[in-house]
Amino acid sequence: MSGAETTFVAQAFESNYIAPLGPMVDAFEQVFSETVGMRHAVALASGTAAMHLAMRFLEVGRGDMVIASTLTFVGSVSPAVYQGAEPVFIDSDRQSWNMNPDLLAEELRRCDRNGKLPKVIIPTDLYGQCCDMDRITDICEAYGVPVVADSAEAIGASYKGRHAGVGARAAVYSFNGNKIITTSGGGMLASDDREIIDKARFWSQQARELFPHYEHRELGYNYRMSNILAAIGRGQLQVLEERVQKKREIFEYYQANLSNLPGIEFMPEVLYGRCTRWLTVMLVTPETLGADREAVRLALEAENIESRPVWKPMHMQPVFKDCRVVGGSVAEDLFERGLCLPSGTQLSRNEQDKVIETIRKCR
Ligand SMILES: Cc1ncc(COP(=O)(O)O)c(C=O)c1O
Repeated sequence: MSGAETTFVAQAFESNYIAPLGPMVDAFEQVFSETVGMRHAVALASGTAAMHLAMRFLEVGRGDMVIASTLTFVGSVSPAVYQGAEPVFIDSDRQSWNMNPDLLAEELRRCDRNGKLPKVIIPTDLYGQCCDMDRITDICEAYGVPVVADSAEAIGASYKGRHAGVGARAAVYSFNGNKIITTSGGGMLASDDREIIDKARFWSQQARELFPHYEHRELGYNYRMSNILAAIGRGQLQVLEERVQKKREIFEYYQANLSNLPGIEFMPEVLYGRCTRWLTVMLVTPETLGADREAVRLALEAENIESRPVWKPMHMQPVFKDCRVVGGSVAEDLFERGLCLPSGTQLSRNEQDKVIETIRKCR
């Protein structure tokens, strides 16, 4: 927290709006949509909820296919599965670690030949780095397939000067406790299309019709963000740029002190955008370093330092064992060799030095 949040939270308490709606929610949506540069936004209980509402709006249903990045967090894909769809996973490209547009184009050609196109494409913006949105949307437009950006990890990131998620039909953001800005838990669905956001807002409030009594013509969800959490979000948005800079500083310090170590390299930053470095992620080449990723992780753990492997690709997850994957070896390699280092913005120089020293000793 930055301190600014308490002012907004106090205002929310004073107004006695302790509910999953209220003026803080409205204001948070407004400022958020200005921040990302999309016309409309709805504040929700989680990023997963936001993705679920987008899937429902796009009529993803039983027997449908959706195409998603394999290197992602499960919340990217589970909502399509709630709707009864089957995911197909696309490998990462080496530069961005995000959905490989060439493989996507190849898969769409194949789908077209087979006479069954996917309902939606869900590229993830991994670890604060944007996917190649223009290429992905160009490819998808040719087949009339909408794109929903999973920008849960990329608040504050940019692509060709636009905010992460812009260019997609709708974009999903997360304010989960581990994200660059947080409301403890929460999410946002944003779009230039008012209809999507109005409908998502309606469903998020149990699909209650505009009557004095409780009238329901369809089923909804209890997915709305609370006024208190939105107050936290308003304070957090004020420090977003500061946080991005701090995250990038943390990354640069790791890079300056570790990249001369043979067998260590860092997640590349693609030229088309500005990565937030939400997490600093490095790759270990065991043959050169003399220790593999797991040995490094355990050495850190022995010093009471938490680090985590890169996301385990979806096509390797037991729950998706029967799903199709296009390629997969790049994501597998990134999982095998990738380690997310402590990247919290409160990390002190001394703490970071300790992480660096422990890694250097692994050689
Ligand atoms: C890539 C990705 N997609 C989706 C989500 C889901 O967001 P939430 O935890 O807010 O439901 C997350 C984060 O948690 C994520 O990292």
